[in-house]
Amino acid sequence: MMRFFLETYGCQMNMADSELVSSILIDAGHQPVSKIDNADVIIFNTCSVRQHAEQRVLGRIANEKHRKLDNPGLKIGVIGCMAQRMGKRLMEIESGIDFVVGVDQYGLLGSILSDSELPEGDSTSMDSSQLYSSILPQRENQHCAFVTIMRGCDNFCTYCIVPYVRGRERSRPAQDIFAEVTAATLKGYRDITLLGQNVNSYSHDGYDFPGLLRHLNSIDSLWRLRFITSHPKDLSERLIDAMAECDKVCEHIHLPLQSGDNEILRRMNRSYSSGHYLDLITRLRNAIPDIAITTDLMTGFPGETGLHFENTLSMMREIEFDYAFCFKYSCREGTEAAAYDQQVPEELRLERLQRMIDLQREITLRKYEAKIGSQVEVFVENLSRKSADHVSGKTRDFKIAVLSGTVDQIGSLMTATVKSATAGTLICE
Ligand code: SAH
Ligand code: SF4
Ligand code: F3S
Repeated sequence: MMRFFLETYGCQMNMADSELVSSILIDAGHQPVSKIDNADVIIFNTCSVRQHAEQRVLGRIANEKHRKLDNPGLKIGVIGCMAQRMGKRLMEIESGIDFVVGVDQYGLLGSILSDSELPEGDSTSMDSSQLYSSILPQRENQHCAFVTIMRGCDNFCTYCIVPYVRGRERSRPAQDIFAEVTAATLKGYRDITLLGQNVNSYSHDGYDFPGLLRHLNSIDSLWRLRFITSHPKDLSERLIDAMAECDKVCEHIHLPLQSGDNEILRRMNRSYSSGHYLDLITRLRNAIPDIAITTDLMTGFPGETGLHFENTLSMMREIEFDYAFCFKYSCREGTEAAAYDQQVPEELRLERLQRMIDLQREITLRKYEAKIGSQVEVFVENLSRKSADHVSGKTRDFKIAVLSGTVDQIGSLMTATVKSATAGTLICE
C-alpha cells in the first residue's frame, strides 16, 4: 500500500482524469493523502497546452525532490499530457522523476505503484472504453461533477498540441454516460458537466450530441446539465433546439472564438469565419434568451498584425461575452503553426493580451451589473469564504453568486434577487 498525493494542472479533462486515477489507485489498495508531507508517491497530472504550464510543473518537481533526502522510498511520477508528449525524455530533463505514464494508460497505475519495479517510461496504449468500464470516479466537489463523454481531438487547430497528446477522437457509449450521470446525481451531484475537447462532434450508437442531451435530460434526479467545449464549426441547429427545449440544460455555452479575424482563423484551421460565428451568437440568443456566452481568445498568433488584433477587439465589443479566457500564443513544438514564419515578439503578444484582458474586464462588469434587479436560481455549493453567515453557489448561467445563508442550505436550490455585482460575483438577497 502506498500513500499518494495527486497534484493536477490543465483543463477539466485533467481534473476528471485525476478523479479517475484516484479511484483506480484506491481500488488497487492505495491511500490518498491531502498533505504532500505524508506521501510515499507524489503524482503530477500535467498539461502541455502552453509552455508556461510545462515550466511550472518542472519547477514544482525540482522544488519537491529534496524530500527524497529524508524519505529515500519516495517516488515522483508524471502523468497527463506532458507525460504523453515527452515520455521518457522527461526523466532525462528532470532527475527527480521515477515514472512517466501517458493519458490512456491510467488503468496500469495501480500495479505500477504496487510493483517495486517501475516501468521504463511509457508503456503500451490502452483502449479508453476499457479504461472507463465500471469505474465511477471520486468527486472532489460535493455537488458538481464532471463526466467525460469523449476523449481526444481530430481538429488539428494549427497552434494546438492537444490532438498530438490526447490522440484521436473517441466517444463513450451513451448508455455508460447515462448510467454514470444517473449514479452521480443519486449521490448528490446534481450539477453535471459533460466533458470533451469538442463535444459537438460526439457520436456513438446512433446518438449525436443533441440526442445525448435529450436522453440525459430525462434523468429525474438531475438538476442541471452543462457541457464543455463546443466548437463553432459543429454547433448545429439541432443542438440549439435541444438546448432550448431541455429544461435541465443550463443557459450557458462556452464557445471559443480564438480570433475575430478571418485570415487568422483560416490559418488557425478553425473552419469558420467571424460572420458564421456572429450568426451562431444571434441564433443562440434568439432561441435561449439570457444565455451566457463565454469564450477563449488568443493574442499574437504567428502573422497577427495590429489590424488583425483590432478585429478581435471589435468582435469582443460587438458580442459582449460574459467572460473570456485570454491567452497569449505559445509556440508548441510539432504543431503546424510552430513552423510558420512571422512569429510575433513576446512583448507584443503580452501587450495585446493586457489590452484584451482590460477590455473584457469592462465588458464582464457590465454583463454582471446588468443582472442587478433580476431573479436568479442559485445552487448553493459552499459556505462563503469571506463571511460565516453567507453561502455561495452558481447560477444556471454559470455566474458565482453570494447570498445570506447557513450550512443547512448547502446542496439546495435557492431563488434570489441580485442586489449588486463585481466582475466575477453576483451579490444576492
Ligand atoms: N478543445 C477546446 C480547447 C482546448 S485548449 C477548444 O477547441 O475550444 C483551451 C484553450 O487554450 C484554447 O481554446 C486556446 O484558446 C488555448 N490554446 C490552445 N493552444 C494554445 C497555444 N499554443 N497557445 C496559447 N493558447 C492556446
Ligand atoms: Fe486544440 Fe482545436 Fe482540438 Fe480545441 S479543437 S483541442 S483548440 S485542436
Ligand atoms: Fe492541457 Fe491536456 Fe487539457 S494539454 S488543456 S491538460 S487536454
